[in-house]
Amino acid sequence: MKSTPTHIPVLLEETIKALAVQPGGRYIDGTLGGGGHASAILEHSSPGGQLLGIDADAEAIKAARARLEAYSGSILLVNENFVDLQTICLKYDFFPVHGILLDLGLSSLQLNGNNRGFSFQHDAPLDMRLSPRQEVTAAQLINDYPERELARLIRTLGEESYSRRIAHRIVQERPIKTTLHLAKTIERAIGRRGGRIHPATKTFQALRIAVNNELANLEATLKQAVKLLGFEGRLVVISYHSLEDRIVKKFMHQEAKGCICPPGTPVCVCGHTPSLRLVNKKVITPSAAEVQLNPRSHSAKLRAAERIISQEERAEATENLFSLLKRQDGNWKKPVQLNKLRMTFAIPSLSQCLERVKEGEVLRI
Ligand SMILES: C[S@@+](CC[C@H](N)C(=O)[O-])C[C@H]1O[C@@H](n2cnc3c(N)ncnc32)[C@H](O)[C@@H]1O
Repeated sequence: MKSTPTHIPVLLEETIKALAVQPGGRYIDGTLGGGGHASAILEHSSPGGQLLGIDADAEAIKAARARLEAYSGSILLVNENFVDLQTICLKYDFFPVHGILLDLGLSSLQLNGNNRGFSFQHDAPLDMRLSPRQEVTAAQLINDYPERELARLIRTLGEESYSRRIAHRIVQERPIKTTLHLAKTIERAIGRRGGRIHPATKTFQALRIAVNNELANLEATLKQAVKLLGFEGRLVVISYHSLEDRIVKKFMHQEAKGCICPPGTPVCVCGHTPSLRLVNKKVITPSAAEVQLNPRSHSAKLRAAERIISQEERAEATENLFSLLKRQDGNWKKPVQLNKLRMTFAIPSLSQCLERVKEGEVLRI
């Protein structure tokens, strides 16, 4: 009997701890996948927790919806790309939040699925799109790119040292329409090399990153995520290869700094203020026991940061509050508005928030 593939969530305990999940909290899982992390977030944020789950893959949304059925009143699942995070949160009025998780890459459901073209374990059309709404497939890149461009793509996104040899062979062999045809072509180009990984691994990684615009999307999403976090909200990112981790590390470290002027600039001209505090200075990786249980976790790296609010942002939030109060239409008393204030200023409950607003105390922060 064929068993249904399942995805084992990576660094699960560490993720819940890094997100500082609390009862009644509001969270975004931008990479819902099979719903493994989401399920744990909902469990730890109960009672009263809410989760917005996003995945570009409609099949992942379907699988997660079934898995999270017990929490159907507390979840909102959206089949979109996380690069549109801000638009999605504005549309559903889901901000500010206590935590945002991005568990990058692919789930076992996608890697084991035999019709998506992500893996050379199955013969399938060279597709690799997370969503059929995307236009460019891996087959188009492989068959239409000039040799030099193809070599550059394989070198930069796959960190493959034999990129030129691989690209040359691909061009001779075109058209290449399937995963196994491509894997065999690469093997013929560079041989088995006696390494631990299959010679096609890095090229497949490069194609998947290019097809889904993964690096640019990640950079754009991190910037949006910070703006959606309430005061002391947590951003947690798990990455699986060095190109992604480098982006996450650079972003978090930069956002944790004040001035980011080039070294040697006599007077600060950037005006940059920190928006994050690093939660773990050293990257978190899985234990040997986890890797043994779930070999796919071996390259995982978790980084976490907490939202801090600068004097300027406090002033801006206070200004916004003033204009809400000035309207005197009672709008600010609405639970949604109050909740925004509560989270912006990390006030434990709505009633305390109401009290503090009445006393004008929030305005003095
Ligand atoms: C590693 S899996 C997540 C697994 C999940 N944490 C769990 O425990 O089941 C990554 C998921 O993120 C999705 N994904 C990757 N990039 C995305 C993007 N740019 N927008 C939305 N979803 C994305 C993939 O479709 C995949 O389902």
